[in-house]
Amino acid sequence: MYLNFNHKYVLVTGATGEIGRQICLDFILEGALVIPLYRNDCKKEKFLNWLKENGANLDSVFPYKADLTKRDDIKSAINRILKEHNKIDVLVNCAGYAVEMPFLMLEDNQIDDQININYLAPMIVMKEVLRSMFINKGGNIVNISSATATKFGRGVSVYGSAKAGLERFTKIIAQEVGKKGIRVNSVSPGVIDTDMSQDLIARGKNNIKEFTALRKYGTPIDVSKAVLFLASDDTAGFITGHVLNVDGGIFL
Ligand SMILES: NC(=O)c1ccc[n+]([C@@H]2O[C@H](COP(=O)([O-])OP(=O)(O)OC[C@H]3O[C@@H](n4cnc5c(N)ncnc54)[C@H](OP(=O)(O)O)[C@@H]3O)[C@@H](O)[C@H]2O)c1
Repeated sequence: MYLNFNHKYVLVTGATGEIGRQICLDFILEGALVIPLYRNDCKKEKFLNWLKENGANLDSVFPYKADLTKRDDIKSAINRILKEHNKIDVLVNCAGYAVEMPFLMLEDNQIDDQININYLAPMIVMKEVLRSMFINKGGNIVNISSATATKFGRGVSVYGSAKAGLERFTKIIAQEVGKKGIRVNSVSPGVIDTDMSQDLIARGKNNIKEFTALRKYGTPIDVSKAVLFLASDDTAGFITGHVLNVDGGIFL
């Protein structure tokens, strides 16, 4: 089976993160032209080096800078992308930010940032990108959610509820834009062995594995494969409004 991403433009937010960079790499290796959104120039250089070391041709990569807590930044980056490349075929909202702490201990800015990055930013990005998908009469969107949206939640009140909002938003938008040939889905990872989850893994010792049917943590590749599956019309052409759990069967 072919994924058919040749010459497709794929916009990935949070591209410099461990899961985001894997998603970018896998799309490039499938022939896509990848537009990574990043916010930090040093991290961009590390990201490009990592892609190169892992076999990516950097001629297929067109990075743009935007801070996802700033609406104007997002809008101007996407306007520039559409001016310079004309279209976005696939959007992956992968940027995320979590502060794991009891709700009453969170600073106001930590609450705002978690809502802005996990919930509001994907909405703003989608609004800008959907306009061009409407004109092109098609497109695919995959939002990265989290198992905390529906399962365990102590210490991640704001993060988990922002991701829950993103999952519901995914389903409602899928209903609204389906008639235009646009599919909108979500991937909901469990504990993935990345920097973001190291505190949780350390604190939970092996408890989390015991609550996970497959008795292991996931990898960025596990998440990336699910994203490519949902983003391809060849593999998932009749799937929309779906939340695909990639969590090894956590808390079944
Ligand atoms: N790791 C897990 O166990 C796990 C589990 C469930 C869900 N997830 C979700 O999976 C996605 C990727 O997670 P990850 O593990 O790859 O985390 P990560 O390595 O921390 O990556 C997060 C990405 O989001 C970007 N980002 C954060 N704030 C931003 C802002 N204001 N503007 C622009 N970009 C911003 C980061 O940019 P910088 O590189 O500049 O910091 C980074 O590229 C997230 O949505 C996360 O919620 C992860």
